[in-house]
Amino acid sequence: SDDKRLVVVSNRLPIAVGEEAGQWRIKPGSGGLVTALAPVIKARQGLWIGWPGCGEGPPLDELFDNFGREQGYRLAAVPLSEEEEERYYRGFSNSALWPLFHDLLGNCRFRGDDWQTYLEVNRRFADVVASRTGEDDLVWVQDYQLIMVGAQLRELGLRQKLAFFLHIPFPTHDLFRRLPWNREILTALLAYDLVGFQTLRDRRNFVNSAIALIPELQVERRQRAQTLIRYQGRIVRVGHFPISIDFAEFNDAARSQEVADAAWYLHENLEGRQVMLGVDRLDYTKGIPERFRAFERALEKYPDLHRNISLLQVVVPSRTQVPDYQDLKQTLDRLSGRINSRFGEPGWIPIHYVFRSLERTQLLAHYRTSEIALVTPLRDGMNLVAKEYCAASVENNGVLILSEFAGAADQLGKHALLVNPYDVEGTADAMHRAFTMPGEERRRRMGMLRTQVRRYDVHHWVRSFLGALSTGTQLP
Ligand code: UDP
Ligand code: G6P
Repeated sequence: SDDKRLVVVSNRLPIAVGEEAGQWRIKPGSGGLVTALAPVIKARQGLWIGWPGCGEGPPLDELFDNFGREQGYRLAAVPLSEEEEERYYRGFSNSALWPLFHDLLGNCRFRGDDWQTYLEVNRRFADVVASRTGEDDLVWVQDYQLIMVGAQLRELGLRQKLAFFLHIPFPTHDLFRRLPWNREILTALLAYDLVGFQTLRDRRNFVNSAIALIPELQVERRQRAQTLIRYQGRIVRVGHFPISIDFAEFNDAARSQEVADAAWYLHENLEGRQVMLGVDRLDYTKGIPERFRAFERALEKYPDLHRNISLLQVVVPSRTQVPDYQDLKQTLDRLSGRINSRFGEPGWIPIHYVFRSLERTQLLAHYRTSEIALVTPLRDGMNLVAKEYCAASVENNGVLILSEFAGAADQLGKHALLVNPYDVEGTADAMHRAFTMPGEERRRRMGMLRTQVRRYDVHHWVRSFLGALSTGTQLP
């Protein structure tokens, strides 16, 4: 499938459209998916179809033309109305599928109207795909917002290769069955030729649910690399492909003079203390309040941390119109305020908490300069921040504290300090252990982490995913 033009379909285009000094401009977007796929589609001179994330104002045709010339791949927009944004994006995608797939049933809102709009919007994406692709193209649909697109393309009569990758976890059958539209979602996934998950656990969860809920399907073959399912006369390949980052890009950029200077300033302002860094979208799956509480517990337990460490938490605004996200913002403001007034002293603020996104240089400087990274989601498909931190730790002495419930733990768990983010005591202890870890152990662990991320980078991810489409076991 190397010769095929690659058509990527995702909810969000890899851009942010904004106005600057009266001029419309396109900037690169944020989020793990964009970081992972932009280099790939550039290399294949492909087409990326998605929601531009803006209203009617900007002259998209003109902006997209410029973008195509500059970036070497084209964009096509699927606009959403305000109501669609509410029911499909904030509603079904982010108030039903997102919490359910992250094991947070209590945050789920299952509403029939939202589901109907999810179907309609997925259908609109399918229409755009159908009108912009030919038989020789490979269509690769991304993530939970667009699960139905493959099945809808089949209904429209498309016979070409369709692949799907789920960037978020797939829950256990016991959780998945709670979804009122569970069979619809499963059969839609079975319309693709290849369905990819982040980890073996996600893949098994999917296969188990499919077996339990769809009696007509047959598991043809279970192999290490793929499970082959026969359904309605077709073969569906199911595999797991841990997504990653462009290691070389992060590693090189982190070594630049610009980043070195920014890193120096950052640390200078923190007066030689150890910096423990968190970088997360504002999201209740990221375990940020739990992390703050663990830090509070660490300060109670370990007086040697006082004045000698600061938690620097960057929270990137996200999904700000979804009520649960607004609540989280308030919780963080309250918690950080409380902890700072409880433990702070003149000249030492325990938690520096910023609610904004960082420029690339600043992000790299934060990674490079922080002695410790805290990546403690309650659940996460992969978590690219963990991998980016390793790639940018060019001094090779950072300590990664990692949640065992992040997909990244499958690959990095051996050399990171693994924690259960629900365990306040254990996480507090891990913070102290990282703080006191001798230089030699830090270098040994980070050396192993960097080797792992370097070897299994995003290019490896793409090769193995697309390779699974073309070279898998042939069945009669
Ligand atoms: N990131 C960003 N802007 C920032 C800070 C981080 O775009 O100000 C990026 C970060 O580099 C990473 C992505 O956001 O690539 C987060 O991906 P991750 O897999 O950790 O979590 P997700 O947001 O996809 O749940
Ligand atoms: C996660 C999801 C992506 C999503 C990103 C940012 O990485 O897997 O599909 O694009 O978060 O969230 P947003 O709702 O702003 O697109």
